[in-house]
Amino acid sequence: MESYRIALLGLGTVGGAVVELLAATRKECAERAGRPIEVSRIVVRDPSKNRTVPADLPGHPTIRGDAIEAIEDPNIDAIVELAGGTEAPREWIRLAIEQGKDVITANKAVLAIHGDELFDLAKEHGRSLYYEASVAAAVPILQVIQQGIPAGPVDRLTGILNGTCNFILGRLEELSFEESVKSAQQAGLAEADPTLDISGIDSAHKLALLARILLGCSVPIEKLRVEGIEGLSPHDIEFGWEHDLSLKLLGMMRRNGDGTALGVMPCFLPSSHPLASVRDEDNAVLLEAAPFGSLVLQGKGAGGMPTAGSVVADILRAARGDAISYPASGTVEKITDPGATPVRHYLRLEVPDRHGVLARVAGALASEQVGIAALDQPENLLDFAGVVPIRILTHPVETTRLDLALSHLDEDLQSITRPVRIRIEE
Ligand SMILES: NC(=O)c1ccc[n+]([C@@H]2O[C@H](COP(=O)([O-])OP(=O)(O)OC[C@H]3O[C@@H](n4cnc5c(N)ncnc54)[C@H](OP(=O)(O)O)[C@@H]3O)[C@@H](O)[C@H]2O)c1
Repeated sequence: MESYRIALLGLGTVGGAVVELLAATRKECAERAGRPIEVSRIVVRDPSKNRTVPADLPGHPTIRGDAIEAIEDPNIDAIVELAGGTEAPREWIRLAIEQGKDVITANKAVLAIHGDELFDLAKEHGRSLYYEASVAAAVPILQVIQQGIPAGPVDRLTGILNGTCNFILGRLEELSFEESVKSAQQAGLAEADPTLDISGIDSAHKLALLARILLGCSVPIEKLRVEGIEGLSPHDIEFGWEHDLSLKLLGMMRRNGDGTALGVMPCFLPSSHPLASVRDEDNAVLLEAAPFGSLVLQGKGAGGMPTAGSVVADILRAARGDAISYPASGTVEKITDPGATPVRHYLRLEVPDRHGVLARVAGALASEQVGIAALDQPENLLDFAGVVPIRILTHPVETTRLDLALSHLDEDLQSITRPVRIRIEE
């Protein structure tokens, strides 16, 4: 049987693992796909860099620097885009589909931003665009929500969608925020510039792709509340320990009578919550719907080999010609703010160590009827530079109203407090 020939665009963390996995499992891949898989071309940014590919990699590819030449090669059946970025991959995916090729990608950013155009183009040309590895790496969550659960509304989705952030939050138990980020970089989990991860944007890209399938419409990222984990500290984790809560960065989808609340926010979860014990770089998604109750999928959410597993599974689906169904694009359902639901909040403020400061903070909160359930200033948190942290537990309040109250802090406090506020999801 004729081989299925692919061009690999990118040979970094994920691309390198894909060639290793394809070489190590060539026989099993051929059996599952019904024909041999060959890597005919590899494209990188800098072909002069010294690199090795496994000697037994089927296809014995040349490593070049011109993606367009590879995409236009009539002997190639599919391109596997593992380079990252948004604009160049958008053009490559467009061109590949127009050239009659299937596409496999692990790139959530390009699909979250240009999904309408690329999915429509694939439909129009009768090509398949597989992207399982782009959300939750090793966890086959897209297949599950497309084919593995009954059709009909999923009422709630709660996801730990960024393995790097989950790893950093775990390290915060012992290290400062900066040291925790460094530790993630040393583990090969964070980029030299970790902004996309720690700002919550990467989680938002993945949430948008999940919601697109679950809601059957496109979800513009700019409509979502997106908050990251910058500024969190071991003090916050400690508060969690004292109250039996775990700190997680969550992507949330909640259907309500008024539309669907969608957003990414750091949240405390009670230790009994199914996602509270998800550690290290694992991702996990909790789905809740009437027909099946609740369902949790969990696995490695980052790293070369875990991601390569999903990429290779998609290559085999493409080689078999498995159909892929695309959610409708265009109609935007009403998106609401998950911060509009009242819950208890944890608040940490840096305040000057002076008389009357607590009354000024309490006054600002009272101006928006934010009730204080508890307030403490643990001795071991004292900062001798004259600024001390205080921690407040509020009664249930909307995040939006709490933010408004914080904006009423007087000018002196505004310049010092650097408030951290975290929702406590029940
Ligand atoms: N790493 C993960 O854990 C993970 C998990 C899930 C999804 N993903 C996604 O997988 C994709 C790849 O991630 P990665 O971590 O493997 O990235 P990476 O280690 O930075 O590797 C990127 C590769 O793409 C090549 N490349 C970049 N720009 C190029 C261009 N303009 N033309 C040709 N080649 C180009 C680079 O070439 P050089 O080697 O010459 O620089 C490199 O080989 C991204 O979309 C990422 O979001 C990654």
